Amino acid sequence: MESSVPPTRQTISTNGHLPAARDADFVVDYLHRLRFTRDVFNPANPTLAEAMGRGGQRRARVFVDAGVAAAWPDLQQRIEAYAKSHADVLHFARPMQIVPGGEAVKNDPAHVQAIVRGMHEAGLCRKSYAIAVGGGAVLDAVGFAAAMVHRGVRLIRLPTTTLAQDDAGVGVKNGVNAFGKKNFLGTFAPPWAVINDELFLTTLSDRDWRSGLSEAVKVALVKDAAFFDQIEATAPRLRTRDHEALLPIVRRSAELHLNHIVSGGDPFELHEARPLDFGHWAAHKLEQMSEFRIRHGEAVAIGIGIDAAYSALLGWLPPGDAERIRRCLMNLGFELANDQLREAHSLLDGLGEFREHLGGRLTISLLRGIGTADDAHEIDHALMTKAIIAASPS
Ligand SMILES: NC(=O)c1ccc[n+]([C@@H]2O[C@H](COP(=O)([O-])OP(=O)(O)OC[C@H]3O[C@@H](n4cnc5c(N)ncnc54)[C@H](O)[C@@H]3O)[C@@H](O)[C@H]2O)c1
Ligand SMILES: [Zn+2]
Repeated sequence: MESSVPPTRQTISTNGHLPAARDADFVVDYLHRLRFTRDVFNPANPTLAEAMGRGGQRRARVFVDAGVAAAWPDLQQRIEAYAKSHADVLHFARPMQIVPGGEAVKNDPAHVQAIVRGMHEAGLCRKSYAIAVGGGAVLDAVGFAAAMVHRGVRLIRLPTTTLAQDDAGVGVKNGVNAFGKKNFLGTFAPPWAVINDELFLTTLSDRDWRSGLSEAVKVALVKDAAFFDQIEATAPRLRTRDHEALLPIVRRSAELHLNHIVSGGDPFELHEARPLDFGHWAAHKLEQMSEFRIRHGEAVAIGIGIDAAYSALLGWLPPGDAERIRRCLMNLGFELANDQLREAHSLLDGLGEFREHLGGRLTISLLRGIGTADDAHEIDHALMTKAIIAASPS
């Protein structure tokens, strides 16, 4: 007969000998520092130095996305000027290291190796800082390297794309791709600090300026109906790249992502429910099927459309809401039709790959309403094929 006492948290003694088994809970405290600023490397701006704390001078090395380095040609001089003004807290042991931007950095292990080498050459220790300046892909690759070096050097993220500022940079994960699988290698490693500098957003291509808006729509749909209303109402301004309209959207999205991590009860994703992955099973597969020609944020927009349509076909979401979501994404300028969607069978393989990545039962977040997510553990492939067709406009 099974004991009613769970076999955890007890010391099992074996007739006066040393215990043969012992289960002990332990808790680790983390502090998540999220800052919003403008012009972070202006010597008069204390945000970065303050985020490093007052523990004396620390070594640091900056790793910069090549796209950012190209857009900000004087970045190295600005970083040096900043270090000079804040020599009490930081010392850059080497010049900034430029890292290829975009998914390329996650697809070739040589890039992670080069970043690891850069940390070695700068003599970083566990109390040093790796400062990653870039889009979500560069943050992922530098974060992965930082988690491995000395089993973890402090990582400060300076996200530079809409997506990185409103989602990726705030998270506690990093990862690179392997064997054609998205984020196959990676760790959970909370950053030391995340500093969103709005100035970086001004040099983005229209495509990268827009693509991160899908993550704001996603978090609104699963967490905050009023935020969805706000995005919907702001869509015409966002479509025409209105910087002032973007800032509150990025900020609210980042806050909602942060709230989920610090208050959601499952920062390291041990449980099944994964509302922040709404729309992501299809997104990850689409990115892979397009050989990463489609941006993560663009793929997420398509994935949201598909899972909203499926939620409606299941009878969970009023059909009018699924249509509202589709219209909002299109008003933001997202292209919801994609050649890859014609291969619905291959896309559906993404469900199995998603389950493998998360472990355990298949768990897909769907919508019960705008602002309310719920989990499904089975997906009807015929119905999902219909949703894929319904979500992509003719
Ligand atoms: N770790 C996480 O929790 C998490 C969450 C969401 C997404 N991600 C990952 O983030 C990646 C997508 O990130 P992304 O959308 O930021 O795109 P990205 O990192 O691929 O960058 C897109 C392009 O923008 C350029 N760029 C970046 N900042 C710039 C700037 N300020 N000015 C000019 N050009 C600039 C880059 O060089 C690149 O060419 C994906 O790999 C995705 O898997 C990770
Ligand atoms: Zn995402």
